[in-house]
Amino acid sequence: MEAVGSDSDGREFKNANEMWKEEIGEEGEADKKQEWYRKGVGYWENVEASVDGVLGGYGLVNEADVRSSEAFLKTLLVERFGSAGRHLVALDCGSGIGRVTKNLLLRYFNEVDLVEPVSHFLEAARENLAPENCMISDTHKAVNFYCVPLQEFSPEVGRYDVIWVQWCIGQLADDDFISFFKRAKAGLKPNGFFVVKENIAKNGFVLDKDDRSITRSDLYFKELFNQCGLHIWKIKDQKGFPKELFGVKMYVLTIDLPKRVDGSRKKMKSYKPAVIKS
Ligand SMILES: C[S@@+](CC[C@H](N)C(=O)[O-])C[C@H]1O[C@@H](n2cnc3c(N)ncnc32)[C@H](O)[C@@H]1O
Repeated sequence: MEAVGSDSDGREFKNANEMWKEEIGEEGEADKKQEWYRKGVGYWENVEASVDGVLGGYGLVNEADVRSSEAFLKTLLVERFGSAGRHLVALDCGSGIGRVTKNLLLRYFNEVDLVEPVSHFLEAARENLAPENCMISDTHKAVNFYCVPLQEFSPEVGRYDVIWVQWCIGQLADDDFISFFKRAKAGLKPNGFFVVKENIAKNGFVLDKDDRSITRSDLYFKELFNQCGLHIWKIKDQKGFPKELFGVKMYVLTIDLPKRVDGSRKKMKSYKPAVIKS
């Protein structure tokens, strides 16, 4: 991956390989990589289990975030699964305190599982999503709470309609990013898809030395998705966030080239010369 990047102290890197070599070492240097993940989780272990905490002090973006995700998700579900009452199951990755599950996923999915490595976040999620604290019907509930980091997680085969990955994939090194998505593909039902909602660097990448995460550029993400063997079905930009924040994109990824729900192929625009029919 050739990309010019920098870290949160302003240090510049020639490319991502140079940064990864320093941060996680070379193949076979397992200790260094473990240290990267230990520091990442260690950072979040000292963060308050609240909306403001998991949003890095920007709890105020919660509403705009959920609103945009919801508008997008609604159209995706209809286009992909039709409007018939299908039993829907989602996985919330790097779920934190269950913010996305509570405000969004549980309203559309009958079952939601959460995977999160920081135990006090997951405990808060369990409490936030308990029936007495989460006014959702009996047919919409949080089911499994897995306390595992994504680089070690393999989802149950064929369980999920949607795997939602938001504001957490930057914690994973490139090789673990790729192997996570490769394993996670097996977790999708036929026609299922991933939504990846993440901060986007203008160029290359930005390494955050505090929480050991990396913000990748759009091009960087696209190269990694390609290496995962995933197709980008749709992309949408998040609007309405404070100007000082990174831009945010939602990528919808499928295993196969997307077909419409009626089975027809998307009509392609043809740019070759053609006779004007009068
Ligand atoms: C910015 S918070 C976002 C939480 C949640 N996705 C949300 O949008 O409210 C980042 C989350 O990633 C989790 N995280 C850190 N390292 C991780 C890893 N290796 N695998 C999965 N999640 C991780 C953190 O514990 C934290 O809950």
